[in-house]
Amino acid sequence: MIDYFRRHLGAKLLLSYLVIILIGVAVLIVASQFLLPASFDRHMAGMGSMMGGGQGQGQGQGLGRSGVMPQLFADFRAGFNEALLYAVLAAAVVAVIISLYLSRSVIAPISAMSLASQRIAAGRYDERVQVRGEDELADLAIRFNQMAEKLDQVESMRRRLIGDVSHELRTPLTAIKGSMEGLMDGVLPATQETYQQIHAEADRLNRLVDDLQELSRVESNAYQLDLRPVEVPSLVQTVTKRLAPQAESKRISLDLDLAPDLPRVLADEDRAVQVLTNLTGNALQYTPENGRVTIAAQRMNTELQISVRDTGIGIPPEHLPHIFDRFYRADKSRSRRAGGGSGIGLTIARALVEAHGGRIWAESAGEGEGSTITFTLPIAK
Ligand SMILES: Nc1ncnc2c1ncn2[C@@H]1O[C@H](COP(=O)(O)OP(=O)(O)O)[C@@H](O)[C@H]1O
Ligand SMILES: [Mg+2]
Repeated sequence: MIDYFRRHLGAKLLLSYLVIILIGVAVLIVASQFLLPASFDRHMAGMGSMMGGGQGQGQGQGLGRSGVMPQLFADFRAGFNEALLYAVLAAAVVAVIISLYLSRSVIAPISAMSLASQRIAAGRYDERVQVRGEDELADLAIRFNQMAEKLDQVESMRRRLIGDVSHELRTPLTAIKGSMEGLMDGVLPATQETYQQIHAEADRLNRLVDDLQELSRVESNAYQLDLRPVEVPSLVQTVTKRLAPQAESKRISLDLDLAPDLPRVLADEDRAVQVLTNLTGNALQYTPENGRVTIAAQRMNTELQISVRDTGIGIPPEHLPHIFDRFYRADKSRSRRAGGGSGIGLTIARALVEAHGGRIWAESAGEGEGSTITFTLPIAK
């Protein structure tokens, strides 16, 4: 019995109403038993003086409880108590009705949410609850639906990610397996070139796994940004020093176009270098020999814009909005031939730039017209 009350909100509500009624009745009984005799006397005295035509108090007193009418008082008290009993019963009935109504309007939405949360836990992420009214419960229902929506998105993102990753892993694995089978069957010659091919595919796998690990770290914010004022020229020089050999081997000229008196930016230097290395690496990758790659920096209001310009293969307009998406490559075969990676580099770059409170975007006049990727960083105060 106690357990039932502990488990049911409706029963608790009913019980609380009954307790309130009980307390009210107790107060009423005590108060009335104290006040009733005096009140009875007063009214009788009033009546006596009316009947006596104002003959004084002595006669009025005679009509009271201590006078000629003790029986009348007893009857009156019995009648009063009976009325009180009916009132208590009526109040109890009303309490039951109200608690039933309240349990329907309060408990029904809560039960609906509880049921919906069970279904969501069981994997049905499209589950939503109805929102009624504008009170706190409606608010809760709205938040509940928002949470369900978010879970739904995360779940579909997870599924897409697993699909993408398996697809990306399969390509080099299939190549490695095919080469090994060719070697075993004697179809492929056991030459240096064959082994190098296999090694290159294994290398691709390795890079992909590294990129995935980095992406998951960056997207889950499982890293600390060490924000400090950073000199932009030194940041740019770190990157050009690192990528000079790559540029030289493709005979691409790597130029700087830095505005004078550049303010310092508030950034994590290692992460900013990572972003710029990524963009410049792409520019070198997607620019044919004898091309030109330029790193430019200039102040724009409260931000600093750093852009990497190249004279390379360009990005067709239909691909521009997508190149920051995970695993997106404008042209898979071309990007592979150009030594392209897994299509995660720009996704990581965007996550890092946004973690700094900046933006990143791409511009290109079209295929063969070169590209410019620009990102912003906040200026240090
Ligand atoms: N400078 C550039 N010129 C032309 N295309 C580019 C450039 N930078 C990026 N892209 C396109 O954007 C895609 C995504 O870039 P990224 O995320 O770095 O992946 P990837 O690993 O292929 O380099 C590339 O595959 C390429 O198609
Ligand atoms: Mg890249």
